Amino acid sequence: MGLHSSELPDFPWDSLTPFKRRAEAHPNGVIDLSVGSPVDPTPDVVTEALAQAANAPGYPKTEGGTPLRTAIREYYRKVRHVRPPDRDGIMLTLGSKEMVASLPSLLGLSSGDAVVIPSVCYPTYEVGALLAGAAPIRADQARELSPGTAGQVRLVWLNSPSNPTGRVMSVEELRDVVRWARERGVVVASDECYEALAWEEPWASKGVPSILDPAVNAGDTTGLLALGSLSKRSNAAGYRMAWLAGDPKLIGPILAIRRQMGMMMPGPVQAAMLAALGDEQHVQAQRERYQARRSQLWDAFTKAGYAIDDSQAGLYLWVRAADGGKTAMDLTGWLADLGIIVAPGTFYGDDSHVRVSITASDLAVSEAAARIAES
Ligand SMILES: Cc1ncc(COP(=O)(O)O)c(C=O)c1O
Repeated sequence: MGLHSSELPDFPWDSLTPFKRRAEAHPNGVIDLSVGSPVDPTPDVVTEALAQAANAPGYPKTEGGTPLRTAIREYYRKVRHVRPPDRDGIMLTLGSKEMVASLPSLLGLSSGDAVVIPSVCYPTYEVGALLAGAAPIRADQARELSPGTAGQVRLVWLNSPSNPTGRVMSVEELRDVVRWARERGVVVASDECYEALAWEEPWASKGVPSILDPAVNAGDTTGLLALGSLSKRSNAAGYRMAWLAGDPKLIGPILAIRRQMGMMMPGPVQAAMLAALGDEQHVQAQRERYQARRSQLWDAFTKAGYAIDDSQAGLYLWVRAADGGKTAMDLTGWLADLGIIVAPGTFYGDDSHVRVSITASDLAVSEAAARIAES
């Protein structure tokens, strides 16, 4: 990484300070709906497994212990209903954010290479391209790129369900991207960290499609990588439990570098992750909590005359003025005056929406919904 930190984009949340000040003036206090950090307790099944594995004198495996990698394969089979990747097509990551930021570098990308990222997206995709010295290109349809630009692309990022929009990509849309990338030998990395949180049909019953689905890739994972994470699925963002799955020919060299770097998930966390993957009850219970919070906020915004786009899945509502006549900053300011902090769409590449997180306590969400509905 030859980049100086001063060459990176500003950390967007720093720019929320003036809105926080405005929100603090609200007589009934501030409600922070600007981040997607879970607030409900980590399930007992996870904390107990962590505690029981506390005696950990030896080094853990960088790729992850065999039972844990088997559990990840089972997750693909049972939960995602797809053919599991080969055993050497799975490796652990320390949360998925670090892999989003480091994948272009780990794939050996550098200046002259380009990385396609969604037009409206989580800021770390851009950061990862810049850290590698590659050029980030915002595009939802890689096939619309000019031939010159397309020739520089080495990696395409997908994020479904999306942060911030909550949009889900269909099997057909994923298949199109895979086809385009295959014709050019381009890697496709699909960040699927919100897959457990689907609210609308058909995704709520069928599940969100994965890049590893044979219906998408015709049973061939060459050039494909999926990122999974338990941060949101299991209320465990503090544990940093995540993984990369897919083409063993891509994962092998990445793992070789990470072994040299000592990027090991701690053994007790691996034990906690194994327990988390073995239990679906806590995932369902959390889904129900979010579902209730989402409905309250959804009703409040629509009653107050605002429109919600996409938001079929994930942890956010993607809200705009119904007539489109307000900027992201206008909307952020309006909510700050109600004591509510949200993330302006500008953090993600959009100037007419705000991203409203449903990860706050029931009390905070009810209070926020009441303030919005009365506004
Ligand atoms: C799209 C997306 N990818 C990755 C992450 C990182 O999650 P974690 O590092 O906790 O797995 C987030 C976190 O909010 C996210 O929104």
